[in-house]
Amino acid sequence: MDRVLTLEFVRVTEAAAVKAGRLMGKGNKMGADQLAVDGMHAILSSVPIEGTVVIGEGELDEAPMLYIGEQVGAGGTPVDIAVDPLEGTNLTAKGQDGSIAVIAIAGKGNLLHAPDMYMEKLCVGPRAKGCIDLQKPIAYNLSRVAEALERSVDDLTVVILDRERHQEMIHDCRAAGARIKLITDGDVSPAVDVGIEGSGVHVLMGIGGAPEGVLAAAALKCLGGDMQARLIPYTEAERQRCFEMGIADLNKVMGIDDLVKGDDCIFSATAITNTPMMQGVQYFGGGARTMSVVMRYKSGTIRFINTFHRFRKDAKWSVHL
Ligand code: FBP
Repeated sequence: MDRVLTLEFVRVTEAAAVKAGRLMGKGNKMGADQLAVDGMHAILSSVPIEGTVVIGEGELDEAPMLYIGEQVGAGGTPVDIAVDPLEGTNLTAKGQDGSIAVIAIAGKGNLLHAPDMYMEKLCVGPRAKGCIDLQKPIAYNLSRVAEALERSVDDLTVVILDRERHQEMIHDCRAAGARIKLITDGDVSPAVDVGIEGSGVHVLMGIGGAPEGVLAAAALKCLGGDMQARLIPYTEAERQRCFEMGIADLNKVMGIDDLVKGDDCIFSATAITNTPMMQGVQYFGGGARTMSVVMRYKSGTIRFINTFHRFRKDAKWSVHL
């Protein structure tokens, strides 16, 4: 992939965030999602790629835009694309922290075509790469991560979705001595955060969406972090879907390179509401300011981009830092 594409994808997530952010706190998660889809779709059509959406808003009959299999782009490099135009719909609708617009791109066939089912995830940053094992007990994983981070388990903060299904996991983390940050929604943003020193969180674990798992893997691959995952099919149809994907062993643990293959991927996320590392969209007369993170695995570059968008040429504001 040409490196100039990297900035093109920031424009894509910025457009989704600027549109969806307008509905922050308005209690309209479907409306906010639609605005994000519109924004992302419009800009994607001008990007010089021959893109196939492999993770998107759903199947063709569920979503008119950014559906799985949709061809996007203005023509050029063939790539596979995973999108979540509004990751954390409830968070945006309630004006709570942690919602982002997000996209990941890789060469053809390199992103796991994760169906809309659950996935168990264990994510850590670069210093704990190689220290995690989803098949081992929580206490074992936490002590290995703590050792790699040269601290004690008491000094680790683990992010977990606050769900009934995680009661035992939460109990085990507490018993091991770790601090816990329970989140109501949106597990992609904290998966990115665990890969960044100073974010205040060190491990993300638990069961969330499988499509979100692939997006998290793309980010962590670029950041040099690590992730293990396994699909959690709850219904017979979901089990069949796994078999069709060639996953015969439903307990199969996938590593980060099974989720995102190859030696090139790009990840871009723009904050809609605040995240620990980025401020959400701010609006002012005739303009807006966004914060994004964009990364490319091949070059190892991680950029935080602070963008001012001037909607009207006569708008009377100046850039401020
Ligand atoms: P949205 O699709 O509403 O944005 O929700 C996203 C999310 O919170 C993910 O971040 C997470 O992986 C998943 O939903 C959790 O699913 P559930 O709410 O069913 O536990």
